[in-house]
Amino acid sequence: MAKTKTVFFCTECGNESPKWQGRCTACGAWNTMTEHVEKPAPVGRGAVAPVGMSRTAQKLTQISSDDTLRFSTGMGELDRVLGGGAVAGSLVLVSGAPGIGKSTLLLQICNSLCTGRTVLYVSGEESENQLKLRAERIGVAPDSLYILSEIRMSDILESVEAVKPDILIVDSIQTLYDEQNDSAPGSVSQVKDCTMSLLQLSKSSGITVFVVGHINKDGNIAGPKVLEHMVDCVLYFEGDANTPYRLLRAAKNRFGSTNEIGVFEMADKGLAEVPNPSQMLLEGRPEGAPGTCVACVMEGTRPVLAEVQALVSKSSFQVPRRTADGFDYNRAVLLMAVSEKRAGLKLSAFDAYINVIGGLQLDEPGADLPVALALASSYREQAVDSELVAIGEIGLTGEIRSVSYLNQRLAEVARLGFKRCIIPKNSAEKLEIPDNLTIYRVKNLREAIEVALCE
Ligand code: TYD
Ligand code: MG
Repeated sequence: MAKTKTVFFCTECGNESPKWQGRCTACGAWNTMTEHVEKPAPVGRGAVAPVGMSRTAQKLTQISSDDTLRFSTGMGELDRVLGGGAVAGSLVLVSGAPGIGKSTLLLQICNSLCTGRTVLYVSGEESENQLKLRAERIGVAPDSLYILSEIRMSDILESVEAVKPDILIVDSIQTLYDEQNDSAPGSVSQVKDCTMSLLQLSKSSGITVFVVGHINKDGNIAGPKVLEHMVDCVLYFEGDANTPYRLLRAAKNRFGSTNEIGVFEMADKGLAEVPNPSQMLLEGRPEGAPGTCVACVMEGTRPVLAEVQALVSKSSFQVPRRTADGFDYNRAVLLMAVSEKRAGLKLSAFDAYINVIGGLQLDEPGADLPVALALASSYREQAVDSELVAIGEIGLTGEIRSVSYLNQRLAEVARLGFKRCIIPKNSAEKLEIPDNLTIYRVKNLREAIEVALCE
């Protein structure tokens, strides 16, 4: 007989401890450790092995690769983030702030998922009628879509048994309730147990499971940290509440890259894909105004153009204020120091604010130069040419270093109608320069500022 084990979880941060503590050692919160009796792991005949898994070791070369395992969700932008479509038998966690559009996205893909497959959509948040209203609004009415409004895990598993779906959608993991565990829905141990049941279901029967996960006030997925280890993909749905644009990115993906982003727009009939994100990110760009420069960064395999804005103003504090939105703060401070020392911009007496338009996070070396140029432009009160894009990494001596995928970036720059582009002097690639695009190859930041501000 397998023994049960008692562990304690912090309801604030999910920290696990073998014994009770008055104060969580990880987050410092008081009286948050709650007891959880771990069920013994199934052993022997009861244990489930994932579909296609055998209990004897096989040679890698003898295992057949099955291409049919992947299928499209009908939304190219979601397929891209999943690594080229959903994988049968995988468990995908979709998380994001309330109202961002998680339920809308998952209900919307049902239309296409239902061609030749059966989908069971379980909601613990909305009633069947509410779901029907939403489905009507976004034009979802496939015949093989089953709806269940339920939070009890055992009833959900019974429905799965009855409907035999190929795809199960659960909205959300925090509302589910496993009767064998007496803590409240949404508690760390409930979330863990319910995810474990869904994981066993997906791996033993080959059902693809999409699960919605809420986030806590720090922007992390609410629940135990192990949740992210248990699932195959963790997708974050992000966006600024004031704009209709939404970005979908993968924080973890066992079947693809985590660099890809998907871009959507929330409209009155649900989410629409934005296949051309550069155009969206550059919309309404002020032309001829100082303090803005266009960057071209790689988001996975796709080059994306985005506008960087900077405001440099005389500081009235002893220590000047700096903020960076959409760009790494420490990198921004470093670029300011390089600009001061190597290009003669006396930024240390000025406050500086950096913002990337459209909610994009520019975490790629190629974004250094446009950020530095936006700062220089605001400092000198001289606009950067509105038809110019800057690409390049900045080193500590002020040199402009080469970046990868330059040809792909230049093609995107030309496609969006830009006429000039500043790039690093040295580049490993053999360049194919598009027609109608003038290239300026610069060695250091000083040269780049000369080109960008004095042309
Ligand atoms: P929802 O998918 O319910 O968000 P989540 O499940 O992430 O909490 O999306 C709710 C928001 O989306 C709500 O503010 C209204 C908006 N919305 C539209 O603008 N158009 C639509 O067609 C739908 C269905 C929702
Ligand atoms: Mg919802």
